[in-house]
Amino acid sequence: AVVAKIAPSMLSSDFANLASEAERMIRFGADWLHMDIMDRHFVPNLTIGAPVIESLWKHTKAYLDCHLMVTNPLDYVEPLAKAGASGFTFHVEVSKENWRELVQRIKSAGMRPGVAVKPSTPIEEVYPLVEHENSVEMVLVMTVEPGFGGQKFMLEMMDKVRALRKRFPSLDVEVDGGLGPSTIEAAATAGANCIVAGSSIFGAAEPAEIIKLLRKSVDG
Ligand code: DX5
Ligand code: ZN
Repeated sequence: AVVAKIAPSMLSSDFANLASEAERMIRFGADWLHMDIMDRHFVPNLTIGAPVIESLWKHTKAYLDCHLMVTNPLDYVEPLAKAGASGFTFHVEVSKENWRELVQRIKSAGMRPGVAVKPSTPIEEVYPLVEHENSVEMVLVMTVEPGFGGQKFMLEMMDKVRALRKRFPSLDVEVDGGLGPSTIEAAATAGANCIVAGSSIFGAAEPAEIIKLLRKSVDG
């Protein structure tokens, strides 16, 4: 059965203290650290790249769940693998031509491949990537427009999560954007098991309590 993976989005952390922010999230019970890589081209924002992942990797051996909001994900495979990335999730919208090569390169580099969909992208577009013999191992359903933390959860996206869970009972299904105590029930019921949460965790007085609550909603 699929189990909960709770992944605080480090985009909501204090980037100037990334190592200690990561360390306290792990101490608070996080499974993964979600790293949002943006190129100010695929999305209208710019964040971090391989050099910062490499610096962080020197301080923590946590699973780094990298979410590539970039136009040319292929260019990031080698640098991120060298830097210590664990998961590499690219967007289907920019990989229509080369997803086979991309998945192959991600796996050869020792990372776990995932595919993400923007809110406006039909979920059927990822089915071939999951059904291929050399498949992705996670699908990330965006529940906000990618680019920024702190936006409102799009409940309509739960149709995609339900469709994925029905078709692929043991697939890791991740949701990202607007997740917190008031939205987790909808996501968990629909079948999501990997939960990214930025502002709800970092904005809480007791982040550990939020992490615990998110996990309980998924695992029961
Ligand atoms: C948005 C990023 C998210 C974001 C989530 O483009 O992919 O990971 O940091 O932040 P919250 O949980 O605040 O919506
Ligand atoms: Zn993300």
